[in-house]
Amino acid sequence: MKLSIVILAAGQGKRMYSNLPKVLHHLADKPLLEHVLRCATQLSPETIYIVHGHGGEQVKQQLTPAIEQLNPIKVTWVEQSEQLGTGHAVAQVMPLIPDDHQMLVLYGDVPLIKVTTLQTLCQKIAPQQLGLLTVTLDNPQGYGRIVRKQGNVTQIVEEKDADAEIKTIHEVNTGILVLPVKELRYWLNQLNNHNSQGEYYLTDIIALAVQNNFMIATCSPENSDEVLGVNDRVQLAYLERCYQTQQVHRLMLSGVTVRDPERLDIRGTITAGKDVIIDVNVILEGKVTLGNGVKIGPHTYIRNSDIGDNAEILANTVIEESKIGEQCRIGPFARLRPEVVLDQAVRIGNFVEVKKSTVAHHSKINHLTYVGDSEVGSEVNIGAGTIVCNYDGANKHKTIIGDRVFIGSDTQLIAPVKIGDGATIGAGSTIMQDAPAEKLTLSRSEQRTIPNWKRRPKKEDK
Ligand code: UD1
Ligand code: CA
Repeated sequence: MKLSIVILAAGQGKRMYSNLPKVLHHLADKPLLEHVLRCATQLSPETIYIVHGHGGEQVKQQLTPAIEQLNPIKVTWVEQSEQLGTGHAVAQVMPLIPDDHQMLVLYGDVPLIKVTTLQTLCQKIAPQQLGLLTVTLDNPQGYGRIVRKQGNVTQIVEEKDADAEIKTIHEVNTGILVLPVKELRYWLNQLNNHNSQGEYYLTDIIALAVQNNFMIATCSPENSDEVLGVNDRVQLAYLERCYQTQQVHRLMLSGVTVRDPERLDIRGTITAGKDVIIDVNVILEGKVTLGNGVKIGPHTYIRNSDIGDNAEILANTVIEESKIGEQCRIGPFARLRPEVVLDQAVRIGNFVEVKKSTVAHHSKINHLTYVGDSEVGSEVNIGAGTIVCNYDGANKHKTIIGDRVFIGSDTQLIAPVKIGDGATIGAGSTIMQDAPAEKLTLSRSEQRTIPNWKRRPKKEDK
């Protein structure tokens, strides 16, 4: 049977106390809804319908890039202008779905659901059956309870409508279910809102299905964290931890040493070679590739970058959108801003900022320096306190430094400027014109000593 998936995402998320619609809050690098959407896509449905309400335009806009990536899976937005309950939400989609489809209902605020769990649920149901994902919780409070007679599910009772006896049931409704569209259409038409919340409950169709001689086939996820929802920011943080644990375990099981799995955060896609070691309090964001033998020091932040084999990133370094060659050593306390490309065995030391520059092999920029919009050759040594003055207040200009150049400490290179191969620049120079290859160039006022000069006495010295 063809599959249609409905993701319910119209709720406001009152308990988030946020201007942002709940499903747009992030888990790692993506909105909650995107996690669900990506999982849904893996089932290759005919169409995914997203029921939106609160902040609909904003939700659509934020999800558009992801949906474009998921192409050719078709995603259709359906508005539920008033949130009258989960049954009402699903009813909004019914006019769009053909009778011969199965419908799988997911929730936009249940982000950790696994595709394998959904596959198991979908495979479980035979004709005249409805598949329901349930879970047994130590603390079932707040959830709809699964009522069984002689082992068979007969109805779901919401917490707010439950009597004391029903509240003792620990098996709860995850909200996730799969069922044939034709019958669902018929049952939805029979729903009413005569309950404590005055809502049209999707859960009420269970009793209707049983009356129509349907069997309720149930299964449970491997781990109950998979079906936990986000209602407030405490739950959001809890699910973030669950998600991080999964990511970090996957990385460790692929051969990466992580000094403390609780102190590495992965907000994107990480590819790592053999024998990578990651120290504590590291954040890896976006697409990060770590070559063989890479060492990442403590308190580092790396975003959308490639780190070559055996490179070493020392403590407190920030690297964004850059490419680091093999055997480089970066930090401690270095900052590589976007579009830096370092060739093999380059060294960038403490309090050095590099932006939009290339540095060829075996060059060293070890202390207190700014290099921007530059091309630096190989085996160059840039002394402490060197500043590339790339910005004249209106425009940025380029600096080109040849191979084997030595730049003395405390030099300013005023761009645009070119330093020839093998040139030496004397310490403390302000270089405004091109410096020739293999020569010493310096700009420095002569040192003087003033005769008969005396320092003023301090008052208390008298
Ligand atoms: C629902 C279930 C409950 C289950 C629990 C699991 C019902 C009546 N109850 O309760 O049995 O244990 O989920 O988490 O279904 N939504 C809409 N439109 C609406 C109402 C809700 O799109 O009019 C969406 C929400 O955005 C959310 C989901 O449906 O993603 C669930 O709604 P929520 O109000 O959180 O339901 P619960 O009371 O938690
Ligand atoms: Ca909920």
